[in-house]
Amino acid sequence: MDLRYRNTESELMDDPKVAIETLRLVFDDINKSNRLLGGNRITLNSVCKLIKEFPRKQYTIVDMGCGDGEMLRELASYFRNTEIEILLIGLDLNEKALTIARELSVDFPEITFLKQDILALKPLNFSCDILLCTLTIHHFSNKQIPIFLSQFTKLAQIGIIINDLQRSALAYYLFKGFSAIFIKTKIAKHDGLISIKSGFKKKDLITFSKNLSHIAHTINWKWAFRYVWVMETSRLSQSYE
Ligand SMILES: C[S@@+](CC[C@H](N)C(=O)[O-])C[C@H]1O[C@@H](n2cnc3c(N)ncnc32)[C@H](O)[C@@H]1O
Repeated sequence: MDLRYRNTESELMDDPKVAIETLRLVFDDINKSNRLLGGNRITLNSVCKLIKEFPRKQYTIVDMGCGDGEMLRELASYFRNTEIEILLIGLDLNEKALTIARELSVDFPEITFLKQDILALKPLNFSCDILLCTLTIHHFSNKQIPIFLSQFTKLAQIGIIINDLQRSALAYYLFKGFSAIFIKTKIAKHDGLISIKSGFKKKDLITFSKNLSHIAHTINWKWAFRYVWVMETSRLSQSYE
């Protein structure tokens, strides 16, 4: 297996022909992996860090490629126990994912879901304080990623949190074992492996960040085989940790 370059094979879940009931089970598998391996906790911790650094009474948080909206529900539940008011917006291109997200979020009036192609964002579409993008940028090619990253920096007043997979042979083989035990759907088993091959080395993310040299960047590795890349859009210096 050659992991020097990012894989360009598409994921099965991106096929518009996948039935909504199948997609629901795929998201259940993704959510289970995130729960067991701590994927969403990494994003939540990064949101809390930005909020501590830039204190306000109210924040608008947008999740790009929100899938079934699990990350937004976790954020809503967390902030219900605090004084901070949070408005949450989930954007995704897939209507079926949005239908599932709306169904699962009936008890969360603070969350809104909208259809949006990440590649067709315009700075005037909306603005937010914090923009999240979890397990989504690996769906795009190295040519496409800078297009939407540049738009992200214009939309987010405080910061951007990208949480995505490390491209690693160890991650690939460990996921094979993990998915044999914990993952039910063929699509999630297949796409999990494709996703790791489409993931990133730290140097890939540093290369993307160089196109955005006017803002501060922090890129950290986190268990299990994730990179969390935080861009502080209101800070000017550049740093890599
Ligand atoms: C692996 S899922 C991640 C879902 C969720 N963010 C999570 O962390 O579990 C990737 C999501 O990106 C969405 N997506 C793919 N291409 C997109 C595009 N061009 N614009 C917006 N969303 C897109 C897919 O529909 C899917 O819901």
